[in-house]
Amino acid sequence: MSVTIKSQREIELMREAGRILYEVHEGLRKELKPGMSTWQIDKLGEEMIRSYGCEPSFLNYNGYPASICVSVNDEVVHGIPSKDRIIGEGDIVSLDAGVIYKGYHSDAARTYGIGEVSAEAQKLMEVTKQSFFEGIKYAREGNHLHDISAAIGNYARQFGYGVVEDLVGHGIGQHLHEDPNIPNFPQRRRGVKLQAGMTLAVEPMINIGRPDVCWLDDDWTVVTEDGTLSAHYENTILITKGEPEILTLR
Ligand code: MF3
Ligand code: CO
Repeated sequence: MSVTIKSQREIELMREAGRILYEVHEGLRKELKPGMSTWQIDKLGEEMIRSYGCEPSFLNYNGYPASICVSVNDEVVHGIPSKDRIIGEGDIVSLDAGVIYKGYHSDAARTYGIGEVSAEAQKLMEVTKQSFFEGIKYAREGNHLHDISAAIGNYARQFGYGVVEDLVGHGIGQHLHEDPNIPNFPQRRRGVKLQAGMTLAVEPMINIGRPDVCWLDDDWTVVTEDGTLSAHYENTILITKGEPEILTLR
């Protein structure tokens, strides 16, 4: 598959998919509190997604059993919600969600601290979010894809953090995952030339320690190999001739 360029009509649908996902994340942010199970977070998220007339895109995707990926502390991404997993004061919790609106996908993730978190956890979350914004400074027609990758990785690495290399962002549209892959660290090649109408899910995953990750035996949950905290921040963006439009933010 090659990189798809969305028509004006498709862009309108992706804007709506993005707006709805933004609202879902805002709804979840307000509900998060210590004592909740990650299963409850998933149920709330699924209800919110369906209340907008959308489908949760992760549910049953390659067999993933939930609508929201909930990844706590050293879990990097794709944590599976569970009634037995209770979030508590001091935890950092990544929520990753995707919706399908009239056949078009949006995908976004946020990492939140529950109550008071350590200064080092707070800094990790802030740097991870900022690395996304550093990357998308280069997200405009005429630049190359890996300009974004390099800006994300170089920013996060300045803090001594480990930038996850085994997982990448992606194109998005009628499918959750489209070409191109979007690494979060500098590449040897410059990558595809960016064009107005491309829609991309840019999603840095950053560890306090080493970049290495491993998979748990549930075949989904990705954790840091060294047990250090990890954060994830993602938005779906639209490439234009000027500044990118962030479809999953206001
Ligand atoms: N944001 C993640 C991704 O882009 C979500 C996929 S989780 C899955 O890969 F469950 F749908 F696989
Ligand atoms: Co994604």
